[in-house]
Amino acid sequence: MNSKRKVVLVGAGFVGMSMAYSLLNQGGVEELVLIDVNKDKTIGEEMDLSDGLPYSPHKMSIKAGDYADCKDANIVVITAGLAQKPGQSRLELAVANAKIMKSITESVMESGFKGIFIIASNPVDLMSYVVAEVSGMPKSRVIGSGTVLDTARLRYLIAEYLEVSSKNVHAYILGEHGDSSLVPWEHCYVGCKKMIDIMKDNNHPMEDLKKIHDGVWQAAYKIIEKKKATYYGIGMALNRLVKAVLNDENAILTVSTYQNGEYGQEGMYIGVPAIINKNGVKEILELKLNEEDQAKFNHSCEIMKQNIENEIKPIIE
Ligand code: LAC
Repeated sequence: MNSKRKVVLVGAGFVGMSMAYSLLNQGGVEELVLIDVNKDKTIGEEMDLSDGLPYSPHKMSIKAGDYADCKDANIVVITAGLAQKPGQSRLELAVANAKIMKSITESVMESGFKGIFIIASNPVDLMSYVVAEVSGMPKSRVIGSGTVLDTARLRYLIAEYLEVSSKNVHAYILGEHGDSSLVPWEHCYVGCKKMIDIMKDNNHPMEDLKKIHDGVWQAAYKIIEKKKATYYGIGMALNRLVKAVLNDENAILTVSTYQNGEYGQEGMYIGVPAIINKNGVKEILELKLNEEDQAKFNHSCEIMKQNIENEIKPIIE
């Protein structure tokens, strides 16, 4: 694998290019290759991003490329596929995007790629499953963005609600990157104090916790209604994931990863806190969920399992 911190992006749309633009500004990647069905788009993006290099504190080689460039890449990030339309759920994209994911994965693997996959294409839990199955890679090396963005939205909303820095909010979204996600509130902390205790000590109504979670899972629908798509938040989330891998951080992030008995579930990708480093998913962190949260998590997993059986397996098998 390349010691040059090389990332290949498949999908030069708004999501992928938001990640690319954040990498140009934050640095940390030395070689970025752009692949898209629309070759001209990648050439234009290469030129446009490169124009920013003189004003970036970092060097980064940016080029329009093809699947052969994946051979020595550390990471292949996949953002290609159809995006949600106003009012459309992510799950409605499953069949169309699974076919796209299968084709992309086959092309990447033909290059001899041996790095880490990071997938953001929706529905990301199902698309991560497709990439894992089609690539045949160890599941730990196929990572979905999962609820990394949802967790950021949760931390932001809690920070606004309590008027504290979001950097001191340690709260996680579990489950589907979608309508069936959940917040294990018992495991949420602000600084070193339990969120539940803060609510009680400040006489905040407990029903506000549901309002905060509603703000998380409804965010994408609202943003899409207003501006037709979401991309800056997910672009930053992908940047975070790329750095956790390239810098071998052992960072705890709520990625979409394969369940092999953890949380009493197996056979699907779903969002859980996991330790991320240069080898991908090092370990899943199992939280002790109360009965209600375990039931919500099981429901979310069941939705994934049903979609895998009914929609995904007919496409990839
Ligand atoms: C969102 C997209 C990335 O939640 O699913 O904004």
